[in-house]
Amino acid sequence: MNISTRKFDTLVIGAGGAGLRASLQLSLADATVAVISKVFPTRSHTVAAQGGMNAALGNVSSDHWHWHMYDTVKGSDYLGDQDAIEYMCRAAPETIIELEHYGVPFSRLENGSIYQRPFGGQSQNFGGDQAARTCAAADRTGHAMLHSLYQQNIKAKTHFFDEFFAIDFIKNEKGLILGAIAVDIETNEKLIIEAKTVLIATGGAGQLFRTNTNASINTGDGMAMALRADIPLQDMEFFQFHPTGIAGKGMLITEGVRGEGGYLVNCEGERFMERYAPHAKDLASRDVVSRAIAIEIREGRGCGPNKDYVMLKLDHLGSEVIKKRLPGIRDTSMTFMGVDPIEEAIPVFPTAHYTMGGIPTNRYGQVVVPVGTGSEEVIPGLYAAGECACASVHGANRLGGNSLLDIVVFGRAAGNHIIDYLKENPHHKALPEDCADSILKRLERWEKPTDSSEKSYTIPELKAELQQVMEENCGVFRTEEVLEKGVIAVKEIKAKLKKAKMSDYSNVFNTARIEALELENLVEIGLATVISALARKESRGAHSRMDYEERDDINWMKHSLYFMENNALTFKPVRSKPMTVESFPPKVRVY
Ligand code: FUM
Repeated sequence: MNISTRKFDTLVIGAGGAGLRASLQLSLADATVAVISKVFPTRSHTVAAQGGMNAALGNVSSDHWHWHMYDTVKGSDYLGDQDAIEYMCRAAPETIIELEHYGVPFSRLENGSIYQRPFGGQSQNFGGDQAARTCAAADRTGHAMLHSLYQQNIKAKTHFFDEFFAIDFIKNEKGLILGAIAVDIETNEKLIIEAKTVLIATGGAGQLFRTNTNASINTGDGMAMALRADIPLQDMEFFQFHPTGIAGKGMLITEGVRGEGGYLVNCEGERFMERYAPHAKDLASRDVVSRAIAIEIREGRGCGPNKDYVMLKLDHLGSEVIKKRLPGIRDTSMTFMGVDPIEEAIPVFPTAHYTMGGIPTNRYGQVVVPVGTGSEEVIPGLYAAGECACASVHGANRLGGNSLLDIVVFGRAAGNHIIDYLKENPHHKALPEDCADSILKRLERWEKPTDSSEKSYTIPELKAELQQVMEENCGVFRTEEVLEKGVIAVKEIKAKLKKAKMSDYSNVFNTARIEALELENLVEIGLATVISALARKESRGAHSRMDYEERDDINWMKHSLYFMENNALTFKPVRSKPMTVESFPPKVRVY
């Protein structure tokens, strides 16, 4: 094995909010921390988060963490684990204050306290009036957070490997994860990073779908690494479609627009959400609003020449509010649609946004796997946090504003748990001599251009095919027939990928190799998603089966676990018992 090796206490894979919040905790505690990021850290996808982060501060409406917990459990369509949800909602106010102290420039109220806007699915007093719980830095909250966290990490001396791509974990014979192999994207040099603990924080897989809000980097890399290490993925059938992506293009128009008073209209100028959610209207939860838009269009009330979008109206808010609170979406709308929302409504359509499933963890961020029948255990030293993880606080439908919260709460929790773990496990474990062999073998086929006379597929072609298949076969509404076709099609793409050719310019640009590796990852996540969706024969949250329209708590109040080997699925119970309060039992979910 002739690869350079570096040793750290902790390896963090991914430099978004979860990774950086964890690495900061660790560096401040004097652990040696390596963060691998395939882009410069402040280009991680957290930077694109717009509307804000939920915390029951009560600055604008009366609020309480317990009401936030109720809304999150209801939003999850009762599939979220209530102990983890309680933990997150209780921790929210102090994590916001920490961020404020790290320098996040939150928008302010007249009295100087942090500005909070209403977001979907938020209520006061367990389902009463609309709450205003989302702390915002205009509509660039993720940008503000990521830059502050990065600066704090630099100050705390976190070690960054920028533009390195993590390929796979290295393991010993007992299955313990001892680090990872990464490649320097510029030089194609391989590097082993040995670590006593590893945190996976690689974000979601929105690139699975043709129309999405995600950066091109969101290819589910850490989730696929977990699958290849025999770790299952939980609840992958639940993929969130954000109701307001720019029509035909997908870029995010924040829910904050509706929080500030914007609303959706169909081609008749009707404010149609009043029919679907008489109480919350445009601020119902995202699955409800996305379905309503899809139904309006299906029933012929869409706008435009092809009647294939609806309009998001905000001109009535006035230019002052738009310029102060929503400058980013005004830019986006003008750049990509030539529409200035101060003057005109924005054409919107649901767009793939967020991976609710992921690597199963407990509330300390420890990765948990099933053993035997009905029990589970943690993998010592292995952690996951953020969108790649499933804690599970979002269940079948995440509330807007809970993902920035999730990343800082569970990034910090994982950091704290790792600090304790390192005290009890102060030494590196020996690496097996052959630990890199099978990984390097997998890489070999992408190392040089394939013979161009050979008839085969290109990586961009196959990626576009995967995105099209997922959009058509695993979208807002699903049926057995359509999902079955999706499973077959994704398996075919996987087979074609084995025969794909490496473009001729791969000797010059290593990014071509990285794109091939990313697509290998994405295909595995696509299979996990569509196979899990085919199995779940009920409608819950974002998983809407037209052939099983009702939620079925008797048979399906359980988490799915997908394994790469044999595309196998098992299930495990929802943890419906909170830590200190009474459970919220399942109820009919109306907004
Ligand atoms: O609409 C938004 O600003 C998105 C927020 C989120 O996904 O939490």
